[in-house]
Amino acid sequence: MSSDPLLRQVLSGVDGSDERLNEIVSSLITHLHAFVSEVRPTEREWLAGLDFLTETGQRWCGPHRNEFILLSDMLGLTTAVDDVNHVGAAGMTPSSVQGPFHSPAPVRELGDWIATGPERERGTPAVVHGRVLGTDGTPVPGALVDVWQADDTGLYDSQDEQQDLGNLRALLTTGHDGGYWFRTIRPSSYPVPVDGTAGRLLKAIGRHPMRPAHVHVQVSAPGYRPLTTHVFLAGDPYLGSDAAYAVKPELVREPVRREAPDERWGMETPFEELEFDLRLVREEER
Ligand code: BEZ
Ligand code: FE
Repeated sequence: MSSDPLLRQVLSGVDGSDERLNEIVSSLITHLHAFVSEVRPTEREWLAGLDFLTETGQRWCGPHRNEFILLSDMLGLTTAVDDVNHVGAAGMTPSSVQGPFHSPAPVRELGDWIATGPERERGTPAVVHGRVLGTDGTPVPGALVDVWQADDTGLYDSQDEQQDLGNLRALLTTGHDGGYWFRTIRPSSYPVPVDGTAGRLLKAIGRHPMRPAHVHVQVSAPGYRPLTTHVFLAGDPYLGSDAAYAVKPELVREPVRREAPDERWGMETPFEELEFDLRLVREEER
């Protein structure tokens, strides 16, 4: 129990019927009181903090945007929550944050081009492929692989009027060998949205808003725990300072430059090949 009478009094009022909620709220109150004792904010500073949170909710949250999620990402909290909930079983692909740009993807066939707009002419052609496997290496046929990425200028379809909705997204089903593949363009690194309160905070504390180039992947298959993760491109200058703190070394892959056309992948010009296997944990595995 705390020796601070005010804190003791506030904590003694936490007595709901949900024990877990009591635990969460008590801990939050304790940490916030410790913050006030340590930082000793002026009343003006405290109100500025409350105004910041009010603006975040009132102006920057709605059906198509949630600035609180972005703030959670930018402060490393989403990754911290991910870390405590997805303690990796040996051999599984680590998870990482979903981010705000996931939306329902068009169903596509293995090997389809997912870059269907002008970016296909501008960008570096790429083949992304891999297999969905159990942690013991068993192939997982029929797994759903949902992928989404930004274009060569760092924009997602929902941020860019020149892209049709569904561009650079796909919902694929793995083949009998657990394999998946698609043709696309190399994604670019990009800044997270900076026009709202999260951007203002980043600027105020002197942090850049960039995320290293990546493709998002979400996999699900009966009998396995679903996985949300990214594959990052080796060599990106922002790998060591991702604004969303989502990079894990096991998720970084080196794209291999192929100079010759390749019939196997249906590529008629030089391209980059990126291989990324996804290892899933069985539901019952710990
Ligand atoms: C993204 O990769 O889409 C993303 C993740 C966290 C914050 C902003 C964007
Ligand atoms: Fe992203």
